[in-house]
Amino acid sequence: MKSAVVSVVLLVILVAWPVSADRKDLPGAGGYGGDDEEEDTKTWFPLDNQLSLSYYDKICPNFEKIVDTKVREWTKTDPSLGPALLRLLFHDCGVTGCDASVLLDHKGSERRSPASKTLRGFELIDDIKSEIEKSCPGLVSCADILTSASRSATYQLGGPYWPNAYGRRDSTNSYARDVEKVPSGRRDITGLLETFQSYGLNILDLVVLSGAHTIGKAYCGTIQSRLYNFNATHGTDPSIDPKYADFLRRKCRWASETVYLDAVTPVVFDNQYYINLQKNMGVLTTDAELVKDPRTAPLVKAFAEQPPQMFRHQFGVSMAKLVNVGVITGEDRTGEIRRVCSKSNSKRY
Ligand code: HEM
Repeated sequence: MKSAVVSVVLLVILVAWPVSADRKDLPGAGGYGGDDEEEDTKTWFPLDNQLSLSYYDKICPNFEKIVDTKVREWTKTDPSLGPALLRLLFHDCGVTGCDASVLLDHKGSERRSPASKTLRGFELIDDIKSEIEKSCPGLVSCADILTSASRSATYQLGGPYWPNAYGRRDSTNSYARDVEKVPSGRRDITGLLETFQSYGLNILDLVVLSGAHTIGKAYCGTIQSRLYNFNATHGTDPSIDPKYADFLRRKCRWASETVYLDAVTPVVFDNQYYINLQKNMGVLTTDAELVKDPRTAPLVKAFAEQPPQMFRHQFGVSMAKLVNVGVITGEDRTGEIRRVCSKSNSKRY
């Protein structure tokens, strides 16, 4: 058992090494990278696409600066927008790829599906877009803005600064029925693994990206069945730590209430989520499953026991993979650069 854990840790170290948690060390970060630097990091981008770390260097050099400033302004007023942006990106990439389809707002779109009801951050993305249009009209896609804004928000919460390659185009379609591709809080590990595999991601990506739940909140409506009517013999899921279950039951009388996904350090991007899982303090069923399933439990243990930097570095590596899922690039010009993130330029609905 001990050797299994050691090998997991080694695996994590191996996969983690290229990403710096500190943006100033990062080749190509923030558009500073030259061609040589891009060459260095290009080799470990997992998916072969046309994105480039220097895509906006010449055509919109202030792009990331505008995004950073806007995210900082908005999250200062409403800190809950940081986690919301990270989730919004997952719900974009997890449906038809990172193509901003989640932002389209029309009858029957992903955003209008009941499963998207608690997604937030749309107004912030719209504001960034209108600011960018002033200096770089028609050049920056909403998909790239969402990718960049989500990284800024994560970094500002103490998370890693992963290298974002750009050049995504925006989709012209968005269908509510596709939203079921994003996992809900009640899927088992086999289901989650299948979903992640369909994105080209692996079991390590699943465990490490679930660590996004070190920040942010869940609506009580999402977990009430775990607390009040679990099954025929137990009102509350017996796998939840009894004291924590008491707390959740008291907090969650109304579906519209919220609870932190990481009860101990809810606004810090650290590895506490994994420590909580080991103490049976996972909020979502899927969180709790990660520590019960023998395929994922050793990774949870490794992230809980290693210094938080290990998780943060690996999170950056897995995010750099996630933001490449299903992108539309210049080579397959089926997309567009939207003028307004909530509306397609070319379609009438
Ligand atoms: C592994 C599968 C995942 C499942 C089943 C899942 C499910 C959920 C659920 C049910 C919520 C609470 C939503 C609500 O009650 O309104 C939530 C919140 C959140 N999720 Fe996930 N998630 C998963 C993966 C991810 C990934 C990969 C990320 C990002 C990389 C992510 C980021 C977040 C964040 C930041 C929040 C808090 C949002 C906020 O405070 O507004 N999740 N997730």
